[in-house]
Amino acid sequence: MDRIVDLRSDTVTLPTPAMRQAMFEADLGDDVMGEDPTVNRLEALAAQRLGKEAAVFVPSGTMANLACLLSHCARGDEAIMGDLAHTFLFEAGSSAAVGGIHPRTVPNQPDGTLDLGDVEAAIRDPNNPHYPRTRLICLENTHNRCGGAVLTPAYMAQARAVADGYGLAIHLDGARIFNAAVALGVDASALTRDADSVSFCLSKGLSAPVGSLVCGSAEFVRQARRQRKMLGGGMRQAGVLAAAGIVALETMVERLAEDHTNARRLAEGLARLPGIDLDPARVQTNIVIFALERDDLTPRQLVADLAARGVKVGAIGGQRFRAVTHYGLDAADIDRALEAFQVALAG
Ligand SMILES: Cc1ncc(COP(=O)(O)O)c(C=O)c1O
Repeated sequence: MDRIVDLRSDTVTLPTPAMRQAMFEADLGDDVMGEDPTVNRLEALAAQRLGKEAAVFVPSGTMANLACLLSHCARGDEAIMGDLAHTFLFEAGSSAAVGGIHPRTVPNQPDGTLDLGDVEAAIRDPNNPHYPRTRLICLENTHNRCGGAVLTPAYMAQARAVADGYGLAIHLDGARIFNAAVALGVDASALTRDADSVSFCLSKGLSAPVGSLVCGSAEFVRQARRQRKMLGGGMRQAGVLAAAGIVALETMVERLAEDHTNARRLAEGLARLPGIDLDPARVQTNIVIFALERDDLTPRQLVADLAARGVKVGAIGGQRFRAVTHYGLDAADIDRALEAFQVALAG
């Protein structure tokens, strides 16, 4: 079989040769003691890129979000989040299970935003002892389940105004914040300015093998570092991983534009196929969500048929699928995937 075109996720990316070299050569120390020079360099770089005072390196995006939520909220506090938020759907209920944090969902709009009227209506009266205390608003940029939708600096400023009106904090799950920045042609810091805390991943489109960062004020990051330790995420000679993260931040951000172009190519090709429901105009970054509108073919059959032709996509419930473009896939791979779809849908 020809090479596999794996569109299941941008987490399947492998480290670049430059990352492997940097990992091999990294200066190391005990990071729990604050003595790994490479981790320290990555944390300083991440904080600078996101316009925050400090950052802490953690093993995963899930731990980054959890450390942030635990730093903002005490047991019984409420965090407002989208009903399609990664923190709500895909993190094993960790904020509730580990932190006793009460998630309050409001509907995600198709563009990844929360309607700020809905958010305001969900904020509890702090003087009523029947209620949990609202502490936090969680936003996500780009929004995974909303097809990589981008939140703008203007929306973030409006969310900030609502949060300030009620003394709430904002956490931004920025797992793919650099995809948003590249799509909008702005500095990532313009998207994080209005958030008190931000998490972002090195191991998705940026192609590093492991790791995420939590960014915020020096005091906030001190709290998050304690939470990381409590969650078992204090790593020792973690510079071997951070070295790849530095290469990711220094060399892999601008190229995300290629992934966006490829996602658009894929979306336009898929939209032309009979039985596929997809509006290519909705595709802003590297995630393409579409639906199968056929009675004679199940999503599971289509996934299997495509896999047999060397193309991997994810079925995400109901009739829907997700395809994600990333480093390692080029326009020819997208065309190969489109051919496989064409044959599978014709068969
Ligand atoms: C928006 C978002 N947040 C958080 C995460 C969690 O990252 P990790 O898989 O590193 O735990 C993901 C992973 O796909 C994600 O898409």
